[in-house]
Amino acid sequence: MNLPNYLRKKRGLLQIRKDGGWDVWNPYHSKLSAYLVAGGKNWPFKKNSKILYLGSAEGNTISYLSEICKTNSITAVEISPVAMAELLVLAKKKDNIIPCLCDAHFPEKYRIQANNPEIIYQDIAQNDQVDIFIRNCEYFKPKQAFLMLKTQSIAKRDFDIFKNTEKRLSEIFEKVESVNINKWAKGHSAYFME
Ligand SMILES: C[S@@+](CC[C@H](N)C(=O)[O-])C[C@H]1O[C@@H](n2cnc3c(N)ncnc32)[C@H](O)[C@@H]1O
Repeated sequence: MNLPNYLRKKRGLLQIRKDGGWDVWNPYHSKLSAYLVAGGKNWPFKKNSKILYLGSAEGNTISYLSEICKTNSITAVEISPVAMAELLVLAKKKDNIIPCLCDAHFPEKYRIQANNPEIIYQDIAQNDQVDIFIRNCEYFKPKQAFLMLKTQSIAKRDFDIFKNTEKRLSEIFEKVESVNINKWAKGHSAYFME
């Protein structure tokens, strides 16, 4: 895949253009960066993409996406009030982040804020993370989606988990790409769907 002109790979690292120079986008801190460093082939994010981000935490990855998707919004769903308190600091500085202190099990609760998202991005390390993801995809019907799957959060053998997850995802999306990002995010696989 050709990277957009604001991203480049240099010496195995991902860099992002910032203030006329280049900043490292650390794959150990962001699974989205790890996905690209590991050879992920899809990059659906455009200037005007509307994103629903499930499991935003304090907003590390969102801080990058809010710059990339400058002219639209990112609805950030997070269940922890502690993480949300930090996200609010970021959301105050950026005008395109919509914070929602919500449980991602219940998409109807943030339907209005999410407002027909084109892309769903999920990074939630819970036993039922795949169920949460599928529920949101069936509810919002995004064009594209990313799932950052943590296998250690599901009490089964990893091989079965990957196989079952891919099977379930391919029932709702035509295209499923899986990329092993374990080197940067222990026990994780990144899935892109379209
Ligand atoms: C690994 S962190 C996300 C890191 C973030 N995506 C990043 O790259 O900057 C996972 C987050 O999911 C949140 N979470 C867990 N269960 C959730 C749920 N049911 N609904 C919403 N958020 C949830 C946790 O509180 C935690 O902040």
